[in-house]
Amino acid sequence: MPATLPVGDPVPADGALPARVLAGLGGRASAPLGLYVHIPFCSVRCGYCDFNTYTAEDLGPGASRESYPETLIRELEFAADLLARSGAPERPLRTIFFGGGTPTLLPAESLARILERARSLLGVAPGAEVTTEANPDTVDEATAATLAEAGFTRVSLGMQSAVPKVLRTLDRTHDPANVTRAVDAVRSQGLQVSLDLIYGTPGETLEDWRTSLETAVAMDPDHVSAYSLIVEEGTAMAAKVRRGELPDVDPDDHADKYLLTDELLSAAGHQWYEVSNFSRDESTRSQHNLNYWRDSDWWGAGPGAHSHLGGLRWWNVKHPAAYAQRLHQGITPGHGRELLDDDAQALEHLMLRLRIAEGLDVAEHEALPGARRLDDGVLRALVHEGLAQEGPLNPDERSPRGRVVLTLQGRLLADAVTRRLSG
Ligand SMILES: C[S@@+](CC[C@H](N)C(=O)[O-])C[C@H]1O[C@@H](n2cnc3c(N)ncnc32)[C@H](O)[C@@H]1O
Ligand code: SF4
Repeated sequence: MPATLPVGDPVPADGALPARVLAGLGGRASAPLGLYVHIPFCSVRCGYCDFNTYTAEDLGPGASRESYPETLIRELEFAADLLARSGAPERPLRTIFFGGGTPTLLPAESLARILERARSLLGVAPGAEVTTEANPDTVDEATAATLAEAGFTRVSLGMQSAVPKVLRTLDRTHDPANVTRAVDAVRSQGLQVSLDLIYGTPGETLEDWRTSLETAVAMDPDHVSAYSLIVEEGTAMAAKVRRGELPDVDPDDHADKYLLTDELLSAAGHQWYEVSNFSRDESTRSQHNLNYWRDSDWWGAGPGAHSHLGGLRWWNVKHPAAYAQRLHQGITPGHGRELLDDDAQALEHLMLRLRIAEGLDVAEHEALPGARRLDDGVLRALVHEGLAQEGPLNPDERSPRGRVVLTLQGRLLADAVTRRLSG
């Protein structure tokens, strides 16, 4: 079962934004705006995954893969209308990310049509980054050609592992040989390639993980996301762990595998730019995800999708049938929302900036209305313990206490570092 949604305040039927957000919109005119498009379909559900996604049997009446693109376009129309009604300045989309689920279960022509409508309704900036996630079994050269023609620039493939027994534990049905074929197909059309990997699966040895990393590196991807396995509550995998059929994840094993990840990817010329994300160079970082970590604005379209605009977060109803029903009635698909107060915004800024390689600009942080002065003793202790270092300062930055950047050891303990600095 996909995870449940947070509780929040109700969203008004017309989606109207609170006065505080409306007042701030003008000041955010030059900040990046992204679009996340959720495609909630999978052919089978992987036992570890709690994303909001449905197989054909799960879906039931009221929603179908065939009708979904037009329903989603209704939300884009709703978004364009709401932003215009709110007097928002024009902010062409700088990044678009189709995620899921498995977006490539829809015909590439449908993804192209959604992108085309996003362009006509919301505007897309020149040089925008446009990504789709894909399952390696669902991408061939014709699909990649249609995507490239439509303006997609990247494809993120769910490789997860190169080791058959690990893929079986993850319930992955894709054929590992298809990853190379999919990478070749994507690259042949001039699109960037990103690979998603998961480490720490029960039963995976360090050598298994080395094999997965080496196999990924041999495909010469532009970008790699390496996630530690999270056993999510309510998943089939969590039930197996509870029943003792699978061992629980081991934090020491995860740490060893993270260190190996950094070692092998660095040796292959990839640098970390967020704790779980590595890229060949600055131009191949995921700008869309960087904007999440930089706390920028994005509209999340689709069932269960989350949006963020000027400190307001909202999330859509989860089920595709409820989502379609609301949009056909002309009302917001928003299910709940929360307006972050100054304290919450400052904490989030601290937490998110520490996760990225550009680090936390101390002066910028302390200038936020909800932030407190960071404790010099804690900053010194973090450097002394080898968890943080002062990052490079640009010549035009005048921050007296610089930038806090996590070291390799610090990345293993990013949450603990956040707690100490916010404590
Ligand atoms: C929406 S899925 C990707 C696209 C496609 N559905 C696929 O799986 O091939 C996004 C990524 O999240 C990661 N992921 C999903 N559940 C996870 C979990 N429980 N722990 C760690 N990573 C997870 C996987 O690496 C997956 O590729
Ligand atoms: S294919 Fe991707 S989104 Fe679908 S269940 Fe598996 S990991 Fe989750």
